[in-house]
Amino acid sequence: MRTLVAALLMTLVLLAGDASLRAQTASRFASMSGEQAYDAACAACHGTDGRGNPKSVVGFDVPLPDFTDCTFSTPEPDGDWGSVIHLGGPARAFSRVMPAFGEALSDEDIDKLVGYLRGFCTDPSWPLGDLNLPRPLVTEKAFPENETVISMAIAHGDEASVATDVVYERRLGKRSQFELAVPVELQKGAGGTWQRGLGDVVFAVKHALFHSRPAGSILSVGVEAVFPTGKETERFGKGVNLFEPFVAFGQMLPSDGFLHLHSGVELPADTDKSSKEAFWRMAIGKSFMENGGLGRAWTPMVELVGAKELVDEEDAQWDIVPQMQITLSKRQHIMINAGLRIPLTSRAERHVQVLTYFLWDWFDGGLFDGWR
Ligand code: HEC
Repeated sequence: MRTLVAALLMTLVLLAGDASLRAQTASRFASMSGEQAYDAACAACHGTDGRGNPKSVVGFDVPLPDFTDCTFSTPEPDGDWGSVIHLGGPARAFSRVMPAFGEALSDEDIDKLVGYLRGFCTDPSWPLGDLNLPRPLVTEKAFPENETVISMAIAHGDEASVATDVVYERRLGKRSQFELAVPVELQKGAGGTWQRGLGDVVFAVKHALFHSRPAGSILSVGVEAVFPTGKETERFGKGVNLFEPFVAFGQMLPSDGFLHLHSGVELPADTDKSSKEAFWRMAIGKSFMENGGLGRAWTPMVELVGAKELVDEEDAQWDIVPQMQITLSKRQHIMINAGLRIPLTSRAERHVQVLTYFLWDWFDGGLFDGWR
């Protein structure tokens, strides 16, 4: 909590400092359109067509990005581009050949330029990176992603267990994604000995039906297939094929806030082995950027997670999951999240779990790239 308050205060102080500085430096770009400012300040390196001028023209080796390549340009959030333009390449651990324009350009000029850069990808069917909201611990996101996540759920007490899940997500084309999740379970048996085994492997696909940057919304549908690779007898799996159709919705809220909704049903192939279950999940949070965008992002979130077996006389079970996500790398492509899953119902049988993940957005750089 203390770090959260510190992050909050730091953001406020920096915002105030920035504003007074900017007021003193009137921008010579203020009267220009985005295109004119781009041609004047950026085109020498990035090319008038946004593809990047060749080495023979620019005279340096660092490869220039191709802004017309929608695969590359659309996943980038406006804020990341804004920080690079404002503070130069090193703001996101890119080359210092990319100059800092924070002295010469106002925030409005930078917004105009980002808007102009966006125009280089001429296909609007790609969802924009701003709709890629921070990932909660339990709730599924609507945005189609390229990332690898290693998550852990730790329970102590009589039924102590450590469930590790390795999740690989890959973008398919403009609006789809597939996912493969391989869980490894570690459980304390009756005699106090620990057993290890494979859990139920999951394959999933997701497709964004609707997205709008102006509205700040994205809506996806998907289906998960759960295969009974885990040993049911040792509580490592459910012992039955499951299908899980779901809907996921993401909404940007003012001042870096956001909301996720995720709901679906779990349909077992054999209802004698496992019953049908409906679930609904909600996450709400807000990001705080250190050093006005230069440093880490701190994202506190809270999830409300509900599920109900679709059989008579079963009550809905509710959990609350407070958590904090922190970006680790300067590129902001490696992050961790940790929280507690606290049961609100059936508290005698269900215990608090520690949930955590390590996330690598590999599209933005290698595991060891983008740190400094
Ligand atoms: C002196 C040459 C030069 C100028 C002038 C220049 N850039 Fe760059 N820019 C670069 C280089 C080189 C990179 C790639 C850095 C890297 O990949 O390490 C880059 C990267 C970027 C990126 C990051 C792209 C990504 O990978 O996410 C943005 C955004 C950007 N430039 C915008 C601009 C804008 C807007 C202007 C004009 C206001 C501008 N640049 C002017 C050289 C330049």
